[in-house]
Amino acid sequence: MKPLLTETELLSGVARLAAEIRSSYRGRPLTMIGVMTGSVAFLADLMRRVELPLRVGVIQARSYRGGDTRPGELVIHSELVPEVQDRDVLLVDDIFDTGRTLTALVERISELGARSVRSCVLLSKPARVEVTYRPEFVGFEIPDRFVVGYGMDYLDAYRNLPYVAELEDVDLHRDQRP
Ligand code: IMP
Ligand code: MG
Repeated sequence: MKPLLTETELLSGVARLAAEIRSSYRGRPLTMIGVMTGSVAFLADLMRRVELPLRVGVIQARSYRGGDTRPGELVIHSELVPEVQDRDVLLVDDIFDTGRTLTALVERISELGARSVRSCVLLSKPARVEVTYRPEFVGFEIPDRFVVGYGMDYLDAYRNLPYVAELEDVDLHRDQRP
């Protein structure tokens, strides 16, 4: 595994995003909704640095791309989403890859009656984007590599790494499931 972003780099990126979010909402109350499970570490660090009246909730999105499920099918579990009617909502996700997940989530939250829906991602892989939607707040742009750590997983492993690392071919073929 090759380290890509250190803890220090991650936290300075988070601080920069928190400042951008704060100045963009100018003291208005904000509802931050983390996309489970990849955003846990990012959400926890970001929410503690955004100096605004803040509500925090989560939503789960899961896309099935292999096995015996239909490829690309996205399942959204919104049971845990707080009331968003007439609220300014900021979706928080780990990584903007093809962009399909976040595009669908923005649509879902809008349908629930939010006043505005924007999004903040820690990482973005511009080379892989397949949609016209773009997140308003982006921490770091990275090359088209599979990354883990700081909430992000490969087969449910590595979420607890405090830094972000690039998986190398040798890691992809080793069984690391916890
Ligand atoms: P999208 O719909 O293709 O943008 O998929 C976004 C989701 O796929 C992210 O929220 C992650 O959960 C997952 N994902 C995409 N790329 C990576 C990666 O490099 N490492 C870990 N998870 C990833
Ligand atoms: Mg995710």
